[in-house]
Amino acid sequence: MLHRPSIWWLAATLSVLAITSSSSAQTITVNNKTVAADESNVSPAVDVATGHGGFESLQLTDRVLANLTGLKLSNISLFAFDNDTQSPEPKCKSMPGDASYPSKATWEALDLLTGGALIRTVPLGSACYEGEYYDEARCQFLINNWNDSDTHVPDPSSVMSPLFEGATCEPQDAALGKDCTLGGFPAYSLNVTTVAQIQLAINFARRTNIRLVVRNTGHDFLGKNTGQGALSLWTHHLRDIEVIHDYESAGGSYRGPAFKLGAGVMVYELYEVAEREGYTAVAGECRTVGVTGGYLAGGGHAPVTPIHGLGSDQILSVNMVTPDGRFITADETQNQDLFWAIRGGGPATWGVVTSMTVKVHAKTVMSGMTWDTTTTAMNISDDTFWKAIEAYWTRYPEFSDAKSYGYCRMSALPEGGYAWRAKPLMVPGMKLVDFKKLVKPLLDDWAALGVDPQIEFFEHESLYGAWSRHFPVERVGSPYARTASRLLPRKNWEDKELMAETIKTIRGIVEEGAFLVHYNINADEPENTPESSVNPAWRDVIMFNIIGLTWDADTSEEEVAAIHNKLTNDLAQRLKDISPGAGGYLNEGDVMDPEFAQSFYGEHYDRLLEIKNRIDPKSVFWAPTAVGSEGWYVTGQEEYVTKQNGRLCPKCASKY
Ligand SMILES: Cc1cc2nc3c(=O)[nH]c(=O)nc-3n(C[C@H](O)[C@H](O)[C@H](O)COP(=O)(O)OP(=O)(O)OC[C@H]3O[C@@H](n4cnc5c(N)ncnc54)[C@H](O)[C@@H]3O)c2cc1C
Ligand SMILES: *[C@@H]1O[C@H](CO)[C@@H](O)[C@H](O)[C@H]1NC(C)=O
Ligand SMILES: *[C@@H]1O[C@H](CO)[C@@H](O)[C@H](O)[C@H]1NC(C)=O
Ligand SMILES: *[C@@H]1O[C@H](CO)[C@@H](O)[C@H](O)[C@H]1NC(C)=O
Ligand SMILES: *[C@@H]1O[C@H](CO)[C@@H](O)[C@H](O)[C@H]1NC(C)=O
Ligand SMILES: *[C@@H]1O[C@H](CO)[C@@H](O)[C@H](O)[C@H]1NC(C)=O
Ligand SMILES: *[C@@H]1O[C@H](CO)[C@@H](O)[C@H](O)[C@H]1NC(C)=O
Ligand SMILES: *[C@@H]1O[C@H](CO)[C@@H](O)[C@H](O)[C@H]1NC(C)=O
Repeated sequence: MLHRPSIWWLAATLSVLAITSSSSAQTITVNNKTVAADESNVSPAVDVATGHGGFESLQLTDRVLANLTGLKLSNISLFAFDNDTQSPEPKCKSMPGDASYPSKATWEALDLLTGGALIRTVPLGSACYEGEYYDEARCQFLINNWNDSDTHVPDPSSVMSPLFEGATCEPQDAALGKDCTLGGFPAYSLNVTTVAQIQLAINFARRTNIRLVVRNTGHDFLGKNTGQGALSLWTHHLRDIEVIHDYESAGGSYRGPAFKLGAGVMVYELYEVAEREGYTAVAGECRTVGVTGGYLAGGGHAPVTPIHGLGSDQILSVNMVTPDGRFITADETQNQDLFWAIRGGGPATWGVVTSMTVKVHAKTVMSGMTWDTTTTAMNISDDTFWKAIEAYWTRYPEFSDAKSYGYCRMSALPEGGYAWRAKPLMVPGMKLVDFKKLVKPLLDDWAALGVDPQIEFFEHESLYGAWSRHFPVERVGSPYARTASRLLPRKNWEDKELMAETIKTIRGIVEEGAFLVHYNINADEPENTPESSVNPAWRDVIMFNIIGLTWDADTSEEEVAAIHNKLTNDLAQRLKDISPGAGGYLNEGDVMDPEFAQSFYGEHYDRLLEIKNRIDPKSVFWAPTAVGSEGWYVTGQEEYVTKQNGRLCPKCASKY
């Protein structure tokens, strides 16, 4: 099925033109007459290609480029595909203010060719700051809802971990007399709705040597979705979901139901369609995380991982635009290296994914329990609390074998004691009667200790019921937090002494004030999964830990530095010390991990790096802790945290 670029697509975009025409406007020459190029004579540079449906049929082709060259559109060479495999000496990325940075007229060419999809960045918080964007009601809304991911998702450039853009233009800071600057935000975003627009942008960024970033929902915890002076590809509007009841994978390893997901599809949209169509989908727990963006490329853990594997284990086929600007399919029979790399080897590294086709599974029953309490509410001592925790944690291998997904959080309270919740501890595929049998010995131990967290049991006939009722709403938007993670292997439970040491170490970290998000999860590889690059540490995991430290607006600079250092060099190191050779989860890991390659990619790093250098010889894509990131740095950073509010430069090369 082919879709023609329709008139609405041309017209709708004009109202959002962020660049006004000026005397330096682009020109084209037709019949020896030079006229201003505008929407009436330069159609968006797009061709209708066969082999793909929907937005993926709208592509940039050599035919289109030849046509535009014929029309003498200025700057057209800046949009050409890569035509060599040379790896020139890397140079710092070009930034606003540099002579080499694209002029206004050059940006206008990009805007014209993309049908007016270019958006100049106006930070979301600017409604709170004096000037042309000030809007009192909107500002109040932003202040009241800053911790809700829904506030950030629909904005082209806002990020949910503002630490990494330099916490500039935060709504609540306007009252403190701070300025709203662009900080680590991109200079422009492109609101992409076709493959052609992504191709034009990648070619443009590569040929002008500007920084390119990709932003989908803005959820990333490491600042991989933003960059000062960058062009950002905003994939949020690629929201198609195609249901394929009987899919046969290219290599023949899978036959069954599958969904083809556009790059902007979010978890809740996927779960809703799966529920309606009678399937279970593998995705995360936060409603608005993007599925084929950071989540699947990074591995992705899910409530049903214990029975169906990791998110990346579901991927059957990937459509993407590579750093040379070409649109390709990677699966078991073509572009196999990329197919291996993109399934776990991280986002923002190999190109821009436009869609992924993923396995879905039959619906199944979900049973489990939740609690949400404090030691005060339970009227127990800290010592009793830790005995209750020990009774639970020592059962992790047994629960893992039963395919449990335990999602808990605990933290020391300022007034003493601990907050403790499980939302939820469940077993996908298990009836409630059996679940109760499984947890009875644990609950008996707790009763004997006098620990009653006021458990609520549940049973639902599908994931959707359990997920929509028993999972927490996660808060975002704090610039005062840093996290690290560790995938603790089964080995730590096999030896009694090491198990005791493991529990003692984690307890110590919590007692010292870190919050602990922990999952009891089993991420075994499902049968017939083609080899992938996902961190091998996932396959041995029994307990996945995220630890975090927080501070606040009043914390002194020295203390903030000490907190960052403590997280990376002390607390996270203690978890490494008890699990040598294990790893961390790249989507929820420590951006400053000094051994990030080993931690996030394990034994796959060398092969991933070889593929990266081959597929992206001109370093179009870069993100902190991504494969190949060690060759670059962001200027002007403290040694204890890398933010994206500086210029991206190669570590050993000529200056700009
Ligand atoms: C509240 C919350 C809950 C979470 N729960 C889970 C969970 O249950 N399980 C889990 O595994 N993870 C979870 N995560 C982590 C989540 O997987 C990552 O934050 C992930 O990076 C989010 O991807 P995104 O596309 O939504 O976000 P973005 O911040 O928009 O993008 C994330 C990364 O992907 C890149 N990217 C986005 N789209 C594309 C594309 N089309 N092509 C190439 N690169 C792209 C971006 O450049 C960036 O590097 C959670 C995160 C949050 C904030
Ligand atoms: C365009 O101009 C050239 C000389 O500048 C002339 O040779 C040619 O005939 C002109 N073409 C048209 C279509 O007028
Ligand atoms: C080439 O340009 C002509 C004139 O503007 C236009 O009608 C035609 O559709 C273009 N073809 C392609 C492939 O872009
Ligand atoms: C792009 O075209 C404009 C207008 O013709 C010109 O001023 C500018 O120098 C060109 N930019 C590049 C990078 O060639
Ligand atoms: C590659 O393309 C650029 C821009 O169109 C051009 O200047 C260059 O000569 C081309 N090189 C080769 C080897 O074709
Ligand atoms: C982005 O594009 C979509 C689809 O065309 C459109 O609905 C939306 O209004 C655009 N958003 C902005 C901010 O340009
Ligand atoms: C809390 O526990 C202590 C003993 O540990 C007991 O004396 C006290 O009455 C309890 N308080 C409540 C409100 O149950
Ligand atoms: C909510 O956002 C504010 C900034 O507006 C931040 O200070 C606070 O830490 C955030 N709270 C959470 C729970 O993330």
